[in-house]
Amino acid sequence: MFLLKTWRSTAFGIYGYMNFTKNGFLEHSKKFKPEDMQIQIEGKNCVVTGANSGIGYAAAEGLASRGANVYMVCRNKERGQEALTKIQSSTGNQNVYLEVCDLSSVNEIKSFATSFASKDVPVHVLVNNAGLLENKRTITPEGFGPRLSVIFLESTHLDFISLCSFVYIRFELNFAVNVLGTYTMTKLMLPLLEKASPDAKVITVSSGGMYTSPLTTDLQFSGENFDGVLQYARNKRIQVALTEKWAEKFKNKGIGFYSMHPGWAETPGVAKSLPSFNESFSGKLRTSEEGADTIVWLALQPKEKLVSGSFYFDRAEATKHLTLAGTSKSHDLIDSVIDTVHSMAALDP
Ligand SMILES: NC(=O)c1ccc[n+]([C@@H]2O[C@H](COP(=O)([O-])OP(=O)(O)OC[C@H]3O[C@@H](n4cnc5c(N)ncnc54)[C@H](OP(=O)(O)O)[C@@H]3O)[C@@H](O)[C@H]2O)c1
Repeated sequence: MFLLKTWRSTAFGIYGYMNFTKNGFLEHSKKFKPEDMQIQIEGKNCVVTGANSGIGYAAAEGLASRGANVYMVCRNKERGQEALTKIQSSTGNQNVYLEVCDLSSVNEIKSFATSFASKDVPVHVLVNNAGLLENKRTITPEGFGPRLSVIFLESTHLDFISLCSFVYIRFELNFAVNVLGTYTMTKLMLPLLEKASPDAKVITVSSGGMYTSPLTTDLQFSGENFDGVLQYARNKRIQVALTEKWAEKFKNKGIGFYSMHPGWAETPGVAKSLPSFNESFSGKLRTSEEGADTIVWLALQPKEKLVSGSFYFDRAEATKHLTLAGTSKSHDLIDSVIDTVHSMAALDP
C-alpha cells in the first residue's frame, strides 16, 4: 500500500508538472479552435456556484460575455455583489444576478432551490464550481442522525458490556461543500435542468488531485490524523465518479454531465490552502481565466460533440485514472456512496 501511494503521488506530480501548469495550457492551446469560443448563448440561463472568486468568477464572466443570463451563487452577499458589479461592467451584460447561499449547508441549498424554482427559469448550465481545501478538521453546524452507535467495553465481571447511544454525526467541511453541497445542489436543480432539455448541462469542477485517491466510502475521514489534501482528493474523486453515474442514470433526461480539471491556477483558494505550493510554483500557474477555459468551452459546445460522464481537461476528454494507480475498480463503490450522501442530504427518494 505504501508503494502504491508513493507511486500515485509521484505519477501525479510528474503528470501535473508536465500538463497542469501555465506551460501545459500554452502547449495544449495550440490545438484549440478559436471558433469554439465564438458562440453566443443569449437567453441561456447559467448557474455558477462560488462565482465571486478565482475560477468561478472567470467562468461567470466568460459566460456573461457571451450573452448568457448568469446566476452567481455566492455565500457572502458583499463579495458576491462586488463581483457581480465587476462582471456587469466588464461584459456590458446586465443579466447577471446574485443568489446568496452557503454550499456547506444542506438547509441553505434547499431554501435556495425552493426560491430559485419559483422563478420558473429553465437551467441550461449548472456549474458546480464552489469548493475548498480546508487543512484542519472543521465541522459544520449541520449533521446526520441520530444514528444508533454501539460501544463495547471490556469488563472484569462480564465478557462485554455494550453501551448503546444515539449520536448525531456532524459534517466535515471539505466533504460538506465539495460532495454533499454538489450532490444536493445538482439533485435539486434536476427539474429545472429538465426544463432546458435537451440542451441542459451540469459541469462539475473537480481536480487532478483526484488522481491520487481511489473512491472510498470513508466520506468524513474517520482516521485520527486528518489530512486535508487527501480528503480533498477523495472528494474530487467522488465528483468524477458521481458525474459518471449521473450520466448513466439520467441519460434519457436530455442532460449532459461533465466533470473537469482546470489545471493549476493561481487563485485566492490556492494561496490560502496550499501556500508552499503557491510560492514554489509562482509564475508557473495558470490564470483564473485559463483555469475556467474548459468550463466555458463545455458550456458553449453542442452536446453532440461532448461525451456525458467524461472527465475533461484543456478542451479534451482526459483519463480518470493514472497508469498503475489502482483506482479504476474503486468506482464500483459509487452506488454505496450515493446511498449515504442521499440520506445525509435527507432528500426524497
Ligand atoms: N485553482 C486551482 O489550481 C484548482 C485546481 C483544481 C481544482 N480547482 C477547483 O476549482 C474550484 C474553484 O477553486 P478556486 O481555485 O477558484 O478557489 P477560490 O478562489 O477559493 O474560489 C472558490 C469559490 O468557492 C466559494 N466557496 C467556498 N466555500 C463555499 C461555501 N461554503 N458556499 C458557497 N461558496 C463557497 C468561494 O467563496 P468565498 O470567496 O466566499 O470563499 C469562492 O467563490 C474548486 O472547486 C477547486 O477545488 C482549483
